[in-house]
Amino acid sequence: MTNNMFFIANWKMFGDFRSVNSVKKVIKFSKNKKYSKVQIVYCPPYTLIDKLLRVTKNSKIKIGAQNCHFSQNPGPFTGSINTDLIKSIGAKYVIIGHSENRLLGDSNHIINLKIKSALKKKLKIIFCIGETLKEKRNNKTNTILSSQIRRGLKNINKNNDIIFAYEPVWSIGTGIVPKTKNLEKQVLTIKKMIIKIWKLKNPKIIYGGSVNQKNINELKKISLIKGFLIGGASQNYKNFIDIIKKTIN
Ligand code: PGA
Repeated sequence: MTNNMFFIANWKMFGDFRSVNSVKKVIKFSKNKKYSKVQIVYCPPYTLIDKLLRVTKNSKIKIGAQNCHFSQNPGPFTGSINTDLIKSIGAKYVIIGHSENRLLGDSNHIINLKIKSALKKKLKIIFCIGETLKEKRNNKTNTILSSQIRRGLKNINKNNDIIFAYEPVWSIGTGIVPKTKNLEKQVLTIKKMIIKIWKLKNPKIIYGGSVNQKNINELKKISLIKGFLIGGASQNYKNFIDIIKKTIN
């Protein structure tokens, strides 16, 4: 297990000003030398980005957005935030292609535009891919993943600013995680897909979907996985710290 693993907290539509205190606990924890290489990223709702940037200023914790609009230019898009605005406030990461946004209409084409826009602004991208339960049952997993990768990365040159987050949709928020053997096999297949498209030697692949302090000992056995995208369990700082400790110990 390498130390420079990613632990990305996806708070989704949770968190208010009181949640900032829980981040302070994680900052304190992250100062321990043992975890000096660990890369912690918080992706709170847009409303908390500025606050968390201030709180984490003197730490190595990074802040990201959970989504962005595809337009690189300002425009009449009520309620939207683009990568220019995310960059201008000082965030370093953006999650793109999360299944909850694919469900709301983010096609592979729109995701491709968002990735291009984020790269232009030099943001690091957490690019989510994953199959639904129906697709899995119909043996479509690899077809779906390959098309999400291929179309999402269309006309984008290989680079190291994209972290691939494999999140089976049937695992998100359900408490169900793939069996270790199956997950290992799937991540290897994804790695091969990315290498085939991009000729990138070591794509960074992380896993997301019901990661918690109980299943982390099992998940961390898969050496191909370079970190975790954590929803529910990241909202409680004790659980989040526990996950990091167990992974690195
Ligand atoms: P979960 O969410 O950990 O609550 O399953 C993960 C995600 O949606 O990124």
